[in-house]
Amino acid sequence: MLVVLGVTGGIAAYKATAIIRLLTAAGHQVKVVPTQNALRFIGATTLEALSHHAVDPDLYTDVESVKHVELGQSADLVIVAPATASFLARMASGVADDLLGNTILATRAPVLVAPAMHTEMWQNPATRANVETLRKRGITVLEPAVGRLTGEDVGPGRLPEPEDIVAAALALAGPGDLRGKRILVTLGGTQEPIDPVRYIGNRSSGKQGLAIAREARQRGAEVHVIAANVDFTDAFAKVTRVASAADLEKAVLASIHSSDALVMCAAVADYRVDSISDVKLKRGHLGERLQLSLVANPDILALANATIRRENLRCVSIGFAAETSSGDQLLSYAKGKLESKGCDLIVANDVSGGAVFGAEANSVTILAKDGALATASGGKAQVATAVVDALAKLL
Ligand code: C5P
Repeated sequence: MLVVLGVTGGIAAYKATAIIRLLTAAGHQVKVVPTQNALRFIGATTLEALSHHAVDPDLYTDVESVKHVELGQSADLVIVAPATASFLARMASGVADDLLGNTILATRAPVLVAPAMHTEMWQNPATRANVETLRKRGITVLEPAVGRLTGEDVGPGRLPEPEDIVAAALALAGPGDLRGKRILVTLGGTQEPIDPVRYIGNRSSGKQGLAIAREARQRGAEVHVIAANVDFTDAFAKVTRVASAADLEKAVLASIHSSDALVMCAAVADYRVDSISDVKLKRGHLGERLQLSLVANPDILALANATIRRENLRCVSIGFAAETSSGDQLLSYAKGKLESKGCDLIVANDVSGGAVFGAEANSVTILAKDGALATASGGKAQVATAVVDALAKLL
């Protein structure tokens, strides 16, 4: 998607860098259009380097490309962040005396505006009226966040977090086919404690699960993420952080009743340490050999599916089968798991050599209960699109 990011002249202009990063990381092209005043706060060089596109807010250069119309017409989405009180006034009046003003008038794409200013300016009747005018015209104007402003003062007027701006904007431009659906996504890898210091873990980075959660959110779903030992700053409808398989089991079973779909992307440890030591195990005391006794963890996905069936819940479930096999062998393992765990779909991938862990790319086969097959490969965002497409069909 081509996103035009308008930046206007406020202190929060530096946060445009985080917005550019989030958009490019999600695979979007970003063309930044700062106002002349924005360039008093942030340099064009920074915006160009991060967006990988030239930044020239002058209306009268490169006139032959008719850039003031071309940008607006080619944009799939326009974001203005931060938007000053002055910019809101000009936009509400349809003033087009710079490239950003022209682009906004020339676009038919959804437009999201994220204001940032002092509380008094935000609450001023002139600003209130301008915001109301814009909203009546179908422009999405975010409420500013409440918090620390430029000086010592605190109140409404802070730029919302870049993650929230990007999520709201992408949801505007997405197909919206999952609007009203509640999707539970587990991601990351569980850690099974040995003692207060050590654990048994796995190499899941959570990237594929995060890409699926973002894709579902972008398509309008209310996404609840249960994250096992993964750091991210995205805003989802709900985030529950867990460490061990036991924590994950509790969180999944508590949320299954209020979900239309369960995407069980987390890599769950099959075994946990039978008796966790309260104190750090010491080599000096244990000698050269340490034997840990492990017991099997419950299969959370199988338990969730049994609950869905027993209680007649309307919840579609997707499992993942990461195998060190390929071809028919991989598909046969995945089919076995689909049946034994009772999922509606299973996503099979070959993780031989561990190359997929933490990587940006992936390659999967999606198997449905009725035998239908789909394949997807490329960036984890592309794979996420294919998985969410398959899920959307079942919803
Ligand atoms: O059997 P395997 O671990 O390959 O199954 C993978 C699928 O089952 C994944 O969707 C994973 O989240 C889920 N799983 C689970 N509980 C376990 C082990 C795996 O829910 N104890």
